[in-house]
Amino acid sequence: MKKICSVVGARPQFIKLAVVSRVLRKEFQEVLIHTGQHYDRNMSDVFFEEMDIPKPDYNLGISGGTHGQMTGQMLIELEKVFMQEKPDMVLLFGDTNSTMAAALAAVKLHIPICHVEAGNRFGTLDSPEEVNRKVTDHVSTINLPCTESSLEFLARENLGDTASVVGDPMYDAFCFYTSRLDGSELQELVDFQGNPIPVPETFYYMTCHRQENTDSDEKLKNIFDAMESLDAPTIYPVHPRNHARAEQLCREYGYRNILLAQPVGYLASISLVNRAKKIVTDSGGVQREAFFAKKPCATILNFVVWPETMQDGCNQLAKPDKADILEKLSQPVQFRADYQPFGDGHAADKIVKRIREYFTC
Ligand code: UD1
Ligand code: UDP
Repeated sequence: MKKICSVVGARPQFIKLAVVSRVLRKEFQEVLIHTGQHYDRNMSDVFFEEMDIPKPDYNLGISGGTHGQMTGQMLIELEKVFMQEKPDMVLLFGDTNSTMAAALAAVKLHIPICHVEAGNRFGTLDSPEEVNRKVTDHVSTINLPCTESSLEFLARENLGDTASVVGDPMYDAFCFYTSRLDGSELQELVDFQGNPIPVPETFYYMTCHRQENTDSDEKLKNIFDAMESLDAPTIYPVHPRNHARAEQLCREYGYRNILLAQPVGYLASISLVNRAKKIVTDSGGVQREAFFAKKPCATILNFVVWPETMQDGCNQLAKPDKADILEKLSQPVQFRADYQPFGDGHAADKIVKRIREYFTC
């Protein structure tokens, strides 16, 4: 049986891993490596528990520091594990520092790499994720973009021969787990003092954690000003990166319409997506989930990440600016019933099929 080392480290990677690992293990030996990039219980363990992800074989315990420190330490430790395990392939997801460190460690050891969610482009190396995904795509043996537009980016960089569209494992997860929601998952919504947050009948769901939006208070304050003036409260589970700043801003400016919550598990998050009136986010995952659930979305980024979600104004870019956010949220939106560019909910099967073909063809 061929041995595949899957490497994950951050929240969205656990979600993709959950659906892929389940299929992969039917015909491959999977060795699971967690870099430790995300480590709080509600940023890591909760996903393994509620999504039945096997316990990692290794947890490298590497997190924090500068990008160079984190990536460098991961590179050193992953190389040791790969030399010991001698995998036939390394399986990577997305565009985090864990992804790029694993890609560099594997390619230097001449281990083939399969990269899931390849080919997204912002068009600027100012974004740390853009650096990670470009490097990873260019050293990968198999690139598996979720959509046709990602395939086009790869083709423009002469990587078309390595790539085939498989659909989005986030869509697989969304379909699979949405059917299991019964409302009880929302009981875990608590504030930073541990008090339960009753979910209002009507609310906006917000997530905001990117370096670009959290590096200054001014941007987050502008986003909060917009949410405060809306016709319903906003539920905002705050990433540990900016939790202290978000709490401080709420104290300082007395926002009453913004409910700060501790990060929630995947089931609660997609439950909030499904119940929200509209969504405001800078997350690559949440903007797709808004689209899957047919909820209008404003994405606080300068760059389009998932152009398919932007059709007919379903998802619109907004600046971290009160007027711009409110304008984008006020526009009427129509979702097309027959338009689903993220696959058929079975991307994991296609990912494993492509890996099988690599070894058999
Ligand atoms: C990372 C990814 C980003 C992804 C996000 C998913 C990179 C460059 N970025 O960003 O693409 O969208 O994960 O959520 O890899 N922290 C904790 N506890 C945790 C995790 C993080 O306290 O469990 C704090 C640490 O102080 C850390 C900071 O958050 O320094 C930022 O974490 P880091 O993993 O560097 O980046 P993310 O913003 O999570
Ligand atoms: N998510 C979650 N709990 C939260 C916030 C988000 O489970 O408190 C989920 C969200 O529904 C989506 C994924 O995490 O499935 C997105 O991850 P994140 O925003 O951290 O990273 P990105 O997708 O931007 O890389």
